[in-house]
Amino acid sequence: MKHKKHNILFVCLGNICRSPAAEGVLKSIVAQEGDEAEWNIDSAGTGRYHIGDLPDRRMRVHARQRGLELDHRCRQVTPDDFDRFDLIVGMDASNLSNLRAVAPSPEAEKKIVAMASFFNPGNRWDHVPDPYYEGAEGFELVLDLLEEGCRNLYEQVENEK
Ligand code: 4NP
Repeated sequence: MKHKKHNILFVCLGNICRSPAAEGVLKSIVAQEGDEAEWNIDSAGTGRYHIGDLPDRRMRVHARQRGLELDHRCRQVTPDDFDRFDLIVGMDASNLSNLRAVAPSPEAEKKIVAMASFFNPGNRWDHVPDPYYEGAEGFELVLDLLEEGCRNLYEQVENEK
C-alpha cells in the first residue's frame, strides 16, 4: 500500500536563513536514513522582502561546512499552504503569531507548531533566534538547534507511522 506523504513546511520571517536551513537539514536526514518518496519538505517566510532569492550567503557558507547545499528560492507563506502541509513549523514566537494570522481556519491553525517543541528536554532555547544581525556564532547556533530539532521531528514522524 502506498504510504501517505509527510508534508512539512518550515517557516521563519525572511525565508533566507532559518527555514531554508531547516529544510536542508531535514532533507539531508531523510536522504541518508529515510525514503525521500515519502516526504515533501519545503520552507517559506512570513515576510516578502526576499522573494525569489537564494538563502543568505552566510547561511549557505555555514551549511556547506556541514555538507548541506541550500538551493531553496524564497517564497512567502500563503493560506493554501495550510491545505498542502500537515505540519507548519515556526522558528520563533513572532513567526507563530504571524502564521496564526494567515491560517484560513481554526482547524488549519492546529497544524502550527514551534520548532523548539522538538528540542531535547533541557535545551535552554525556547525558539530559534534570528541570525540575520548576528555573527558566525549566530549561524552556527541556528544549525545546531535545527540539527537537534529536525532529528527529533524525523524520529517522531517516523514513529507515528
Ligand atoms: P530568517 O532571517 O527569518 O531566518 O530568514 C531574516 C532574514 C531577513 C530579514 C529578517 C530575518 N530581513 O529583515 O530582511
